[in-house]
Amino acid sequence: MDFPRLSICFLFILNFLVSLATSQSELRFNRCSTSGNYTTNSTYARNLNALLSSIPASSDLNSDGFFNSSVGQNPNQVYAIGLCAGYLAVASCRSCLNVSVQAITQECPNQKEASRGYDNCMLRFSNRNILGSMDDSFVYVAWNVGNATNPAQFDDMLGDLLLDLRDRAAAGGVRKYAKGDISYRGHWAIYAMEQCTPDISKLDCGKCLNVATNFMLGYASYKFKVGVEVR
Ligand SMILES: *[C@@H]1O[C@H](CO)[C@@H](O)[C@H](O)[C@H]1NC(C)=O
Ligand SMILES: *[C@@H]1O[C@H](CO)[C@@H](O)[C@H](O)[C@H]1NC(C)=O
Ligand SMILES: *[C@@H]1O[C@H](CO)[C@@H](O)[C@H](O)[C@H]1NC(C)=O
Ligand SMILES: *[C@@H]1O[C@H](CO)[C@@H](O)[C@H](O)[C@H]1NC(C)=O
Ligand SMILES: *[C@@H]1O[C@H](CO)[C@@H](O)[C@H](O)[C@H]1NC(C)=O
Repeated sequence: MDFPRLSICFLFILNFLVSLATSQSELRFNRCSTSGNYTTNSTYARNLNALLSSIPASSDLNSDGFFNSSVGQNPNQVYAIGLCAGYLAVASCRSCLNVSVQAITQECPNQKEASRGYDNCMLRFSNRNILGSMDDSFVYVAWNVGNATNPAQFDDMLGDLLLDLRDRAAAGGVRKYAKGDISYRGHWAIYAMEQCTPDISKLDCGKCLNVATNFMLGYASYKFKVGVEVR
């Protein structure tokens, strides 16, 4: 799959806003790094296991649906980030991350670095410090495929919506998250959400979502319509 390189932020464009909260949490990507392997039963393996297994029940998830921590000492230090979609209640957040934790080490056995993302949550770990900084190796962009009846109108409105959500998400507090919709004379509407991890600055969040927005808009105009109209 071809994901653009962005920072820790994401953006959804949807046909049904309600499907965000109720749909099965679909797997969108799993990326195992090729940067290095750890050996079974090593210090790194123990640190990783301790860190990952602490995530699902962590109280960090309570207010912002965000986990960021590390275990161990250099060179065996492991860092992890878990993030739930801004609309997700804490119990669902825990269970989404729990599923991720179980799956990620099975899918990427002995990899020092990996990331895995569902509609509802994402998880990433690394031997590099990935906390509090922009990182261009973790990205998630999703779309539904469908053609707009009036592409120019659709693109204009999509642009307005995405830029508005970018500003609102970046300005957010504990959850840098915004959702919204725009409708065309009651005939159809576009729904979208954007989110950044709460550890990055407003400026970095805005930059990150800018890249995502430009990607979406660029993509919209030459391949197929990003997002879907709801009639
Ligand atoms: C890591 O292990 C995988 C198989 O588990 C192997 O394909 C890969 O080449 C290894 N990478 C390094 C850097 O040793
Ligand atoms: C790891 O440790 C377990 C329990 O001590 C042992 O059964 C297993 O053989 C070890 N695996 C490796 C690859 O050393
Ligand atoms: C995570 O899932 C396991 C079963 O796979 C379960 O035993 C455990 O209680 C779950 N933990 C949380 C915090 O949900
Ligand atoms: C959307 O538009 C493209 C190019 O104009 C066309 O090839 C495709 O069949 C259309 N898809 C649908 C579902 O109408
Ligand atoms: C985790 O993120 C919070 C912001 O949500 C930040 O205040 C904290 O310093 C971060 N922790 C680490 C270990 O980076």
